[in-house]
Amino acid sequence: MTHPVTAFMLERNSMPALSAPAPTGAVLGSIFQAALRAPDHGKLRPWRYLTVNGEALYKLGNLFAESSRADDPTISVEQENKFRKMPLRAPMIVVAIAKTQAHHKIPEIEQLISLGAGVGYLLLALQAEGFGGMWRTGPLAYNKGVHKGLGLVEGERIVGFLYIGTPEGKAKAIPQNNTDDFITPWA
Ligand SMILES: Cc1cc2nc3c(=O)[nH]c(=O)nc-3n(C[C@H](O)[C@H](O)[C@H](O)COP(=O)(O)O)c2cc1C
Repeated sequence: MTHPVTAFMLERNSMPALSAPAPTGAVLGSIFQAALRAPDHGKLRPWRYLTVNGEALYKLGNLFAESSRADDPTISVEQENKFRKMPLRAPMIVVAIAKTQAHHKIPEIEQLISLGAGVGYLLLALQAEGFGGMWRTGPLAYNKGVHKGLGLVEGERIVGFLYIGTPEGKAKAIPQNNTDDFITPWA
């Protein structure tokens, strides 16, 4: 019989439609603790997270709009406003930031995938606590103005904007995977 934890993992689902409330307090603390349990070669802790709530979501929208225009002055006012509204799609955004370092034994890719694992745990813990999330990137994750506005320093990168809240409406069907398409015994 499938263990309940495994069964729960099979039900993980990205939730694009999110409303208030977002997790707070001890529940949010546990969700982050799950992310901090990511496997981490050499315990480099090559990651950090920013939380964006309330008024700061509007500020982030302005940063998105201004940075998009600075990157491409030809964008239309409609496009600029679309970027401005993006962070308002959820009551909370967590920005997952990779802070990798040159290391004689641990290549950068290992440090990046450690953060990827952490984000996966965060999404699972979020759902376990009755909330939902959606991992997004898009051009704003790679925009220098956004990096500066969020206080990233040299060498840091955005790996995701995690939109977080309470799922709205009906969840999509979970995509089914055929194990044999991806797993092959090697001998
Ligand atoms: C690094 C990363 C970036 C992503 N960026 C976006 C994005 O910008 N927009 C989007 O619609 N989905 C994005 N996705 C995919 C969704 O988070 C999600 O995985 C997808 O909708 C499939 O749903 P599922 O996770 O429930 O299978 C991204 C996923 C990853 C891993």
